[in-house]
Amino acid sequence: MPVRLRHVNVAVIGLGMGGAHLKGYAAHPACTIAAICDADRKRLAAKGAEYGLDASRCFTSTDALFKAARGLGLDAVSVVLPNTFHAPVTIRALRCGLHVLCEKPMAMNATQARQMIAAARKARKTLGINLSFRFLPQVRALKDIVDSGKLGRVYYAHTRWWRQRGLPGFGGWFGTKRLSGGGPVIDLGVHRMDLAMWLMGHPQPVTVSAAAYDPIGSRLARAERKTFDVEDLGAAFVRFEGGATLTLEASWAGFSGKNEDMVTEVLGERGGIVQRNLNEGYEFEARVFSEEGGSLVETLVRQRLAPAPSPYGEFVDALLEGRPPLAPAEDGLKVQQVLDAVYLSARLGREVRIK
Ligand SMILES: NC(=O)c1ccc[n+]([C@@H]2O[C@H](COP(=O)([O-])OP(=O)(O)OC[C@H]3O[C@@H](n4cnc5c(N)ncnc54)[C@H](O)[C@@H]3O)[C@@H](O)[C@H]2O)c1
Repeated sequence: MPVRLRHVNVAVIGLGMGGAHLKGYAAHPACTIAAICDADRKRLAAKGAEYGLDASRCFTSTDALFKAARGLGLDAVSVVLPNTFHAPVTIRALRCGLHVLCEKPMAMNATQARQMIAAARKARKTLGINLSFRFLPQVRALKDIVDSGKLGRVYYAHTRWWRQRGLPGFGGWFGTKRLSGGGPVIDLGVHRMDLAMWLMGHPQPVTVSAAAYDPIGSRLARAERKTFDVEDLGAAFVRFEGGATLTLEASWAGFSGKNEDMVTEVLGERGGIVQRNLNEGYEFEARVFSEEGGSLVETLVRQRLAPAPSPYGEFVDALLEGRPPLAPAEDGLKVQQVLDAVYLSARLGREVRIK
C-alpha cells in the first residue's frame, strides 16, 4: 500500500479533456497544479495563462516533463493523451516514481493494461483509471443501493451508448485504429461497460460474442479522402463467471433516432435499476424497481447524500489517505479484456473466450 501524502503536486499531460482534470485538481485544497504538458503550444500557452503557470512549468514533451519531475517536486500525473500513448507514458511516469491517473480506455489492449499494473506494483505507486461515470453522485447512490443488497443476486445487465451522428472529425486520432484502438466500443462502450460491470460487482468476464459494423463512417470518410478505419457500431453479449450476462451496444453513427442515447439496466432477483439520459443530453434519471408488501415499487434516485468527489478529487483523496482509488487499474483491466474480446469476436465472427 503506498504511503499517505500530505499534499499532492500534480502535472496534467494532454490538455483537451485534460482541462477537466486541471479544473478538478484546482478545486482540491491539498493539491497544487505543478506543471502541464502538451505538444500543442497554443493549448499549452492558454492553459498556462489560465492556471498562472510560467514557462518553467509548461512542457511540450513528456521527456522534458519527466526530466524535470524531481525538481518540480511532482507526486503524480494525469495522462490525458490519445489512447496509443496511455500505456507507454503511464509506465514511464510510474518508473519515475509518480502516481498516475490515466484516462479511459486504460490502454490499447489488455496486454498493455497488464504491463501498466505490473509497473505500478513494482514502483509501489497508485494507478487509477478515469472511468468517470462511476463518480457521478447519482451513480454513487445507485452503487450504495446495490451494495446494500436491495437487488439480490444480479443476473443480467444491458448497457448502451448510441449516437445517431456522433462521428469524430475524419483524419484525427479517434477514427484511426492504430492510435485509438477502435471506435465507439472502446471510446463510449468503455464507459457504459464499466458502469454496468461496477454495479454488478465487477464479475470476471469469461466469453464474448460480438459484431461490429462500419457502413456510415467509412463511406463519409472516403468521400472526404480521410482515414476512418474503426467501427460505427458494435454490439456484444458477455458471459461472466457465476452465470450473469450482459449486452453492450455502442455507436457513433446509426439511423437510431436519437443524437445521444444512454441507458444501463441492471436486473437482480429482488430488484432492478434503470439509469438513462434525459432529452438526449448529459442529465440522467435513475430508478430502482423492487417488490414491497406484495406490490411493485418504483423509486426515483436523485443523488448520494454522502460526499461524491470528482474523479480528480477522489484520486487526490486516495493518495492522501494511502488507499486504492475508486476506479483502480485492476477494474480497468477487466473492462479492457471485454473490449479486446469484442473486437476479436467481431473479427472472427464467433464467440471468444477470455483468458
Ligand atoms: N473520461 C472521459 O469522460 C473522457 C472524455 C473525453 C476524452 N477522454 C479521453 O481523454 C484522452 C484524450 O482525449 P481528448 O478528447 O482530450 O483528445 P484531444 O485530441 O482533444 O487532446 C489530446 C491532447 O494531447 C496532445 N498530445 C498528443 N500527443 C502528445 C504527445 N505525444 N505529447 C504531448 N502532448 C500530446 C494533443 O496536442 C492534444 O492537445 C483520450 O484517451 C480520451 O479517450 C475521456
